[in-house]
Amino acid sequence: MNTEFKPKIVVFCCNWCSYAASDAAGVARRKMKPYFNVIRVMCTGRIDPLFILQAFILGADGVMIAGCHPGECHYQKGNLDAHRRVNFLRAVLGQAGLGDRLEMHFIAAGEPNKFQVEVNRFVEKIQSLGPSPLKGKNKKPLEEPTKRQTLLGALTFIFNTTGAKPESWSPASEEEMIEGFGSPVYDPDKCLGCGACMRLCPEEVIRFDEVDGTQVISHFYSNCITCRKCEENCPYEAVKVEKGFELQSFLQRKAIKDLDMKLRQCSVCGRYFAPECLLDDIKKKEELEFLPSEIFEICPDCKRTQLAGHFKKIFNLEPLGIT
Ligand code: FES
Repeated sequence: MNTEFKPKIVVFCCNWCSYAASDAAGVARRKMKPYFNVIRVMCTGRIDPLFILQAFILGADGVMIAGCHPGECHYQKGNLDAHRRVNFLRAVLGQAGLGDRLEMHFIAAGEPNKFQVEVNRFVEKIQSLGPSPLKGKNKKPLEEPTKRQTLLGALTFIFNTTGAKPESWSPASEEEMIEGFGSPVYDPDKCLGCGACMRLCPEEVIRFDEVDGTQVISHFYSNCITCRKCEENCPYEAVKVEKGFELQSFLQRKAIKDLDMKLRQCSVCGRYFAPECLLDDIKKKEELEFLPSEIFEICPDCKRTQLAGHFKKIFNLEPLGIT
């Protein structure tokens, strides 16, 4: 163990149990290594994974979370949520060689002894690991326009700085899963490419692109917050949001392709304007049977121009100067 090394350790304590334990340990003058700072939060459930990542990014050598014992959280299950987040982060940070620098413990108000023992043991462990490879690499917390983008930026920074290559990883059980991650999954037999999902997505997860007469549907994996707006509003029940997390997909900043479908070319101007399968489906509707089938071959702009021409002829508008 490198006893010369004076680590910087952050200990997040919940107000009701572990902070009281830390206070009691101090009042009782229990000997503790002086390399940690306590941050009091009302409940460990309040600790966003970003708090932990930002602590590492700003140079913490270790982060400890201390909360109430299971079943004793004053907000029912904040400690269990925090435990899942810590398990998740330990697995992800483990790939960058930082997993052992994060721990969580359950410490009741009446356990100042446990607080002293765990903190001293953790400080010694961090001393033996040495300084964090992120130390001194960034002086400011990372800030992006959204929380999700900040998380992506933080993980990207950590992997780039440590030089570790992220491997494919998904939580093995509910114990490692954190809320709000998933992705849209399309049923190719049902999706007609109407675009409702793309228009209603508040996080710009879904993309519709035209490539050589084909409509390509894709999504940005890391942006999905599982709000389910796409699923709830799809008229064809073609998209479902599946919860989950996959590290490589999350870190990749490119859109992931889901489907492609042929677009119809306007018989007048020649531009591609809507998926063939969608137009064919509309054409089959009973209430639209009276429409001439050519109407489904013309793009909306050309339809408008043709309609205007008909009106002009019917109402003889040219003498009025309307062209
Ligand atoms: Fe202590 Fe929730 S109140 S962990």
